[in-house]
Amino acid sequence: MSSKIVSGIRPTGNLHLGNYFGALRNFLKLQEENDCYFFIADYHGLTTHPTPENLQENVKQVLAEFVACGLDPDKATLYVQSDVPEAIELYLFFNMNAYLGELQRVTTFKEKARKQPNNVNAGLLTYPTLMAADILIHRASKVPVGKDQEQNLEMTRTFAKRFNHMYQTEYFPEPVAYNFGDELVKVPGLDGSGKMGKSEGFGNAIFLIDDEATIKKKIMKAKTDSGPTEKNSEMPDYIQNLFSLMDIVSETDTITQYKDAFADCSIRYGDMKKQLAADMNEFIAPFRDKIKSIVSNDELLSKIAKQGRDKARESAQRTIKEVRDIIGFKSI
Ligand code: ADP
Ligand code: TRP
Repeated sequence: MSSKIVSGIRPTGNLHLGNYFGALRNFLKLQEENDCYFFIADYHGLTTHPTPENLQENVKQVLAEFVACGLDPDKATLYVQSDVPEAIELYLFFNMNAYLGELQRVTTFKEKARKQPNNVNAGLLTYPTLMAADILIHRASKVPVGKDQEQNLEMTRTFAKRFNHMYQTEYFPEPVAYNFGDELVKVPGLDGSGKMGKSEGFGNAIFLIDDEATIKKKIMKAKTDSGPTEKNSEMPDYIQNLFSLMDIVSETDTITQYKDAFADCSIRYGDMKKQLAADMNEFIAPFRDKIKSIVSNDELLSKIAKQGRDKARESAQRTIKEVRDIIGFKSI
């Protein structure tokens, strides 16, 4: 049965492998049979105060990257969040029933507040209500995202339930985070600290636009040690991370060969990294080439954005009209 699907990515930098495996790849399959919306979350991007030039450049770049990854503007609705201001009205409605305590308890808020103590703004605090509005403005039930977004999705369900309860209606669905495998994905970064992410500093993320030399440089720098000294010893997290990346881009035989070498202590991390860099480059190359061929095509990008905006607004306006009616905003 066809469902409504929504997901978005903030235009705070280039797309990386984590974005691809956490969000985009799942969306690719869904777009074939469902009513799908994928947007560039530029309102969300404002929490870190980009300059106008940066904001516009990044939006264009990310839209080109969406298309290069296979998001199809004729199958899915690809749009820029700020082109659909109806969601902001829904954001306001949800904020009226969002409580300080519950917003302050969200892990991503706590993390951001720790990382940028001089910029703990209300936009950061209400990030989950805007995200709920992004999703519920289309009344979507599935949201392809990585593991890090689980809690935000839980908040979305809270706001949907609260609205339904308050107005004695079943208007909003309770959306779930979605991944094709059994579990939500977390692609590790190269610095050994956990998640691949664009704000974790140079060298942690492999971007879809990275050239061969950059990929090699980042991978060769990844944290390792002098190797195991006891047979079948436990694998440290940072080595496990390299294997997780191999799982994504290398052949099964290659992975088995290095796992066996780890188990019998013959592994040479330099060789493993060279292999990973070569396989990674092979995986990234088609994305890189496609992005380059699209990103300077202003005409195509603006056509795609306009097509998406019109479709997204139509869906959003329908919801807002019905929500206004439920809340009691009626012409007098
Ligand atoms: P970043 O963490 O690089 O700033 P975003 O927060 O904009 O990326 O994430 C956009 C989408 O990509 C979300 O669905 C998020 O869950 C997913 N994502 C980001 N990093 C990863 C990762 N390392 N593994 C899996 N999914 C990820
Ligand atoms: N919060 C998501 C992130 O940081 C981006 C996002 C904003 C999103 N609104 C959304 C994802 C709605 C899915 C649905 O990665």
